[in-house]
Amino acid sequence: MSNYLDRPVGAVPPHLAEIYDETSFWSARFGALLLDHLDIRRGISGLDIGCGTGFPLIELAHLHGASSRFTGVDVWTEALARAGLKLRLHGLDNVALVAADVAALPFPDASFDLLVANLGINNFPDPTAALRECRRVATGGARLVLTTNVQGHFGGLYALLDDILGELRLKAAREALHREAAHRLSLDTIAHLLEGSRFAVSRSFESRFRMRFADGSALLRHSLVQWFLDGWRRAVGNADEREVFERLEVRLGTVAGAEGCVAMAVPMLYVEAVAV
Ligand SMILES: C[S@@+](CC[C@H](N)C(=O)[O-])C[C@H]1O[C@@H](n2cnc3c(N)ncnc32)[C@H](O)[C@@H]1O
Repeated sequence: MSNYLDRPVGAVPPHLAEIYDETSFWSARFGALLLDHLDIRRGISGLDIGCGTGFPLIELAHLHGASSRFTGVDVWTEALARAGLKLRLHGLDNVALVAADVAALPFPDASFDLLVANLGINNFPDPTAALRECRRVATGGARLVLTTNVQGHFGGLYALLDDILGELRLKAAREALHREAAHRLSLDTIAHLLEGSRFAVSRSFESRFRMRFADGSALLRHSLVQWFLDGWRRAVGNADEREVFERLEVRLGTVAGAEGCVAMAVPMLYVEAVAV
């Protein structure tokens, strides 16, 4: 780690503006929940799974200081390059970045005593394989901390879409939508997965926030919503998507007219488990 007295008073590293505001507002909400509850200890070896462009990896390395070491893994090599730039600009040398799949981690057994995944578990293609591999690289007694959005996410939109698919008698699409909603985990399903991988849930905290949009057009064109849209479109199917989404936009507009805006709930979960 750089010596803080080496930096001339008032100096700003070149190119800092390129990374200054990079943590997305979405990630930050879940990261704040994580950092509110995580116990900060000295001398640990931590792993951030699905660290993306370095969040919360870099914040964790800063908070834990030089007595601890952190490793970030992700399959997204471009994001890791960005994380590497941040490490250089921040002068952090207690962090390693590794391009790897969470289901096949290139680390010996029992390497880490803290494992975190901010917004990871819903994104890993095979959560069971991911948690099994996490347990392999965890020391006995290690903490595994997951933060994620859970079932109920954008529930108002799912309800409207379900009504529209019902009106249009698109039974298969409706069933596909139910499966899409269910792919998001809940505390019960996460606890079940964790216990199957020899982690015992020790603490959990639930929270929620609302995202509010002026109308359906604003909601469906929001840059974050594009990440959710693919799942809804896959459920609806190519043949009917124009009609369904036009109706959805109108329906969301009606809600905005009646209620002033369209509010979507985002339930969040912090789960901490101990490797047993
Ligand atoms: C929603 S992003 C969260 C990124 C970051 N932790 C944050 O809070 O902003 C999910 C991350 O998981 C990564 N990911 C998805 N599948 C993965 C896998 N099989 N192994 C490792 N990382 C994976 C993605 O590349 C992405 O960076």
